[in-house]
Amino acid sequence: MNVLRKVVGIKDLRDARAALPEPVGFVPTMGFLHEGHLSLVRRAREQSASVIVSIFVNPTQFAPTDDLDAYPRDLERDAALLQEAGADLLWTPTPEIMYPPNFQTWVDVDGLTQPLEGEKRPGHFRGVTTVVTKLFNAVQPQKAFFGQKDAQQAAVIRQMVRDLNMPIEILIQPIVRERDGLAMSSRNTYLNPAERQAALVLSKSLAAAQSAYKKGERNAETLRGMMEEIIKAEPLARLEYVSCADYDTLEELRELTGKSLLSMAVYIGRTRLIDNRVLG
Ligand code: PAJ
Repeated sequence: MNVLRKVVGIKDLRDARAALPEPVGFVPTMGFLHEGHLSLVRRAREQSASVIVSIFVNPTQFAPTDDLDAYPRDLERDAALLQEAGADLLWTPTPEIMYPPNFQTWVDVDGLTQPLEGEKRPGHFRGVTTVVTKLFNAVQPQKAFFGQKDAQQAAVIRQMVRDLNMPIEILIQPIVRERDGLAMSSRNTYLNPAERQAALVLSKSLAAAQSAYKKGERNAETLRGMMEEIIKAEPLARLEYVSCADYDTLEELRELTGKSLLSMAVYIGRTRLIDNRVLG
């Protein structure tokens, strides 16, 4: 059985990485790991000779009003889960390592970051693309694994890698859900039992829209309306957006002709949850 090695500094990471067999598969995370994260690690294990995982709660992708300080952390448990899932190396840099004094370089993807999450969370993707670039530069993986759970993030990272000629293959893995349909998320731990039940409106509304689509519904406004109605019927839910967009451009659709992305952000109590489904 492989033993999980843990490093903090960039020099230690580079030294440990140099000793690992290639190709190296990389899974960037913010920790408090669940089956969604672990599915990426297992996939990386299957598709790479070595697996590196990072845990870093990246301050620059949180707005001042966001849950940065409250974001759940449990490094010991995470390390045990990663060891079990077959990771070779865990890198846990500190904010001081990632953002030393006088840090002033940012990576910004234009068009794809504008709608949906980008519109509701200004600056969020700039933080994501900057930190992922820094993580990539330090780890230098041949492959990197991301979840479809964060559909727009996955699209933005793909665009960035293409635009900046990063020699890294980006592999996107399906959403892992709880048995009742709730998409797994570190933020689900914020939900009290009533909210946990109410949170099912996200997956339920997506399932309803998908079922209408399967029966032939192609009008985007009708599908958005169906999802909205289901979410608005739940007293603990507050809808932020529902979208029925082109899968590649993320532009809102009138008619669904090709591959499309249904997505949404919903507050359940004070917890902001996102979910999505691909059609066509
Ligand atoms: P985090 O939210 O910890 O997620 C790490 C990775 O796990 C992301 O690629 C995310 O899409 C994937 N993931 C989360 N829940 C999932 C689920 N239920 N099924 C499948 N995959 C899932 O995303 C981030 O961290 C950060 O933005 C990061 C990329 C690490 C940059 O800071």
